Amino acid sequence: MSETGRIRVFSGMRPTGLLHLGHLAGALTNWVALQEDHDCFYGIVDWHALMSNYAESENTGSLCLDVLLDWLSVGLDPNKSCIFIQSHVPQHVELFLALSMVTPLGWLYRNPTYKEQIENIQNKDLSTFAFLGYPVLMAADILLYRAEKVPVGEDQSAHMELSRELVRRFNHFFGAGLLPEPQTILTPTPKVPGTDGRKMSKSYNNSLYISESAESMWDKLKVMITDPARERRTDPGEPNKCPVWDIHKVFNHDAAQRAEIEKGCRSAGIGCIDCKKMLNAHIAEMMAPIHERRAKYASDPGALNDILRDGARRAEAVARSTMRDIYPAMGLIVRSDRVA
Ligand code: TRP
Repeated sequence: MSETGRIRVFSGMRPTGLLHLGHLAGALTNWVALQEDHDCFYGIVDWHALMSNYAESENTGSLCLDVLLDWLSVGLDPNKSCIFIQSHVPQHVELFLALSMVTPLGWLYRNPTYKEQIENIQNKDLSTFAFLGYPVLMAADILLYRAEKVPVGEDQSAHMELSRELVRRFNHFFGAGLLPEPQTILTPTPKVPGTDGRKMSKSYNNSLYISESAESMWDKLKVMITDPARERRTDPGEPNKCPVWDIHKVFNHDAAQRAEIEKGCRSAGIGCIDCKKMLNAHIAEMMAPIHERRAKYASDPGALNDILRDGARRAEAVARSTMRDIYPAMGLIVRSDRVA
């Protein structure tokens, strides 16, 4: 709990590219809601991005700014949440090292995410010390702020479990209650398929981006794959086999219209283009204020700079106070000008 009596929340995203509608539905909408009554810290975790992208590191900074613009445009509010870049707060690295003292290698080698990525990712060399330690840095991100709740998707569950186990082990060595065990808020991840029907992902080149113009969004939607059995306009379709319908279910909140579309599709009363036009209208309406906000921030680099500087200052104040507890608990001498 923070001084304000609100529950402390931490979450982060790696800066690896523009964010898409899957990020919006799966995480960001929830993050925006949480900032109303929680004490939220949201980090752009650039060290984490380097752990897998160290060989092409030169764009990391500009990718951070893309993420920042996407976050602000969807309504993350620097007056409500602490928004910052991980590498701007050096204590993340300090706590990462402190936690690594008691991290058994076996826990890291057994981490299912690690095993899966080492086996499947061929185009880069991930056999590094840092990549193995990815979940330790993630634990440091959370524990540095003594966050009680961490909104993440199912894919992060193993990392969260490792964070909790690490807290228990750390407290066992260095002091009961030193760090709190963070809880996962499992964000329901609504299915938002990409234009080819597979999971929306930058690497599949099938994404609808948050920053995408209305024109470009429509260009992609109008050629998006539908129920493959519906070859002709006169063939009846099955919404449950149509990825466009999956997106309707997430972003079209007009229940009466959705019912009409389901019926019209099954009876061939409406065509795929009619259906896509309706979806496009809902997305365009949702995106209009988002794009307006994006344009405003994008034209004001000074404001972005202020947001990042203030975010890092606020984050660092909390981070320092955690490290002031951790140094003596580990038997280290706290630098004298950092006491109190
Ligand atoms: N591992 C997370 C992901 O890939 C990103 C992340 C880093 C994170 N540190 C975190 C998420 C701390 C929650 C809390 O999505």
